[in-house]
Amino acid sequence: MSKIYPKHIAIIMDGNGRWAKKKGKPRTAGHLAGSENIRTIALYANQHGVESLTLYAFSTENWARPDEEKNYLFQLPSLFFKKYIDELKRENIRVTYIGEIERFPKQTRNVILDAVKQTSMNTGLNLCLAVNYGGRREIVCAVNEILKDPEIHEVTEDMISDHLMSETSEVDLLIRTSGEVRVSNFLLWQIAYAEMVFVNCAWPDFDPEEFEKCIDEFNHRNRRFGGLSQ
Ligand code: FPP
Repeated sequence: MSKIYPKHIAIIMDGNGRWAKKKGKPRTAGHLAGSENIRTIALYANQHGVESLTLYAFSTENWARPDEEKNYLFQLPSLFFKKYIDELKRENIRVTYIGEIERFPKQTRNVILDAVKQTSMNTGLNLCLAVNYGGRREIVCAVNEILKDPEIHEVTEDMISDHLMSETSEVDLLIRTSGEVRVSNFLLWQIAYAEMVFVNCAWPDFDPEEFEKCIDEFNHRNRRFGGLSQ
């Protein structure tokens, strides 16, 4: 049987700090290596027909990190898109984002919005960056949006799905790197039936070979969506 690539893959890119520490480098070096790896995995996923790749780049909880680290993280989109926007455009990759980007520094925000704009006509992989994103917050925002309509007295699942920040559908495969086995407030609504794969390698070391192992694992799972095996 041929291998199926999940339509929507979400990744919690964990372990940048530990990767750097192991190499005797500052945490920022781990984040830089992690951002380079976004290019590798996005190109690979695109080549294999994955429709959406949603990456947890900055959570609503990450504001608790030291200013120095946050400021470094805020610079990474500029470095990344300066280097790779032409390639992303050529490769037909569409950049999108989810999260309350308004709270990000203006320059970081503008760089991301510009990448979204420049790639908006592309039809290949949807590379969605979760920035200042939290799954609970996303659900609360959706419900508040729905309640703005005074005619609505009961909220349904479909209504919530239609009002989420992400334009993408259900997640098929959730991957977390670096050995932690948690979902950390990521895409809580969309992972309801996702297969989850937790790998030990740190995000900067998560190469196409490791990615393929996750795809193989996904292919071995028996997805029943609450029904019976076929
Ligand atoms: C978690 O590792 C990683 C983050 C909080 C940041 C992820 C961000 C990137 C990979 C780069 C984003 C770049 C662009 C272009 C959007 P950690 O620091 O918590 O690792 P640790 O658990 O080992 O300390």
